[in-house]
Amino acid sequence: MQLGAFTLPNALFAAPMAGVTDRPFRKLCKRLGAGYAVSEMVTSRPDLQDSLKTSRRANHDGESDPIAVQIAGTEAAMMADAARYNIDRGAQIIDINMGCPAKKVCNKWAGSALMQDEALAIDIVQAVVAACEPHGVPVTLKMRTGWCASMRNAPTLALAAESAGIQMLTVHGRTREQGYKGEAEHDTVAHIKSRVRIPVVANGDIDSPRKARDVLQRTGADAIMIGRAAQGRPWIFREIAHFLATGEELPPPDLSEVRTWLLEHLEDHYGLYGEFTGVRSARKHLGWYANALPLPLGAAAVFRGRINELTTCEAQLRCVSDSLDEWRDTHEALVTPDEPGSGTRWKLAA
Ligand SMILES: Cc1cc2nc3c(=O)[nH]c(=O)nc-3n(C[C@H](O)[C@H](O)[C@H](O)COP(=O)(O)O)c2cc1C
Repeated sequence: MQLGAFTLPNALFAAPMAGVTDRPFRKLCKRLGAGYAVSEMVTSRPDLQDSLKTSRRANHDGESDPIAVQIAGTEAAMMADAARYNIDRGAQIIDINMGCPAKKVCNKWAGSALMQDEALAIDIVQAVVAACEPHGVPVTLKMRTGWCASMRNAPTLALAAESAGIQMLTVHGRTREQGYKGEAEHDTVAHIKSRVRIPVVANGDIDSPRKARDVLQRTGADAIMIGRAAQGRPWIFREIAHFLATGEELPPPDLSEVRTWLLEHLEDHYGLYGEFTGVRSARKHLGWYANALPLPLGAAAVFRGRINELTTCEAQLRCVSDSLDEWRDTHEALVTPDEPGSGTRWKLAA
């Protein structure tokens, strides 16, 4: 797939998730098969640009191209400035957030709330496109299917955004009103795909190789984007890539491989956040990893309890390393998935 000057290696994208898809996690997803990863949203408010949180989010050291940065806000001029600010710091693609359901984005209704005000949404798109064009930086848009059941205006907005210069559209198959409830629908993506010429990316509830294939087939989308299913399981990208290429399940990674990835993830994470914040913010990732791994009943909870008590990088690294060695030695993981197409599912030997 082509996006501006970039040819993406595959059609498997890691979703922007605030507090999750930071630079270390994006790098790991890309290493394990994601062809593209979008940063957590960065505020467009200039007064917050020098905050530690924003500067960490604008850090792309060691990340492979293309560097895609998502911006969020409600004012066209501010969003254009935010685009320029991030381009100066290495952004090669700017993504506009019209998908986030959080009430407080930039202390105002931003994200998916913009879908309620189509005129403002398009003003923002035009301003950001005009700011990015001189730099040859493509602008993309991520949205939901609409604001609520009675205002499912993603198709209208998609056409207007395309005319305004958007070069790729991602659609999460829920309205803002739905939050994360119910099941994502992908018929709206199929409908949008049939009406626009730019690449369309399907997003929502894709959590296995089989689901990935079904959504791609059903929507005709150019790519799929995966969020929550990659938490604690970034190797889902290579599992999907393998399944799409061969029609066969990739065996789950062995625990020695997982140990290497986790330790590398932690080192990179501490490098970005420092010891105090790094040890604490790594806990959620470690909890997700424990949930995704083939552990005996109760072991994930014991592991989380231990991890939550540790306050130094060294102790956390040692705990992760020792735990994985212990699990690998004491529990033989069978490589047969529970059900075909369900992705990584280990069964423990009795
Ligand atoms: C913790 C979390 C943070 C998120 N942050 C963002 C964000 O910053 N920008 C955005 O466009 N979407 C954000 N999302 C939405 C995801 O990108 C994605 O659209 C949604 O989770 C549906 O995909 P999934 O079912 O694969 O998780 C977030 C989702 C989660 C769970």
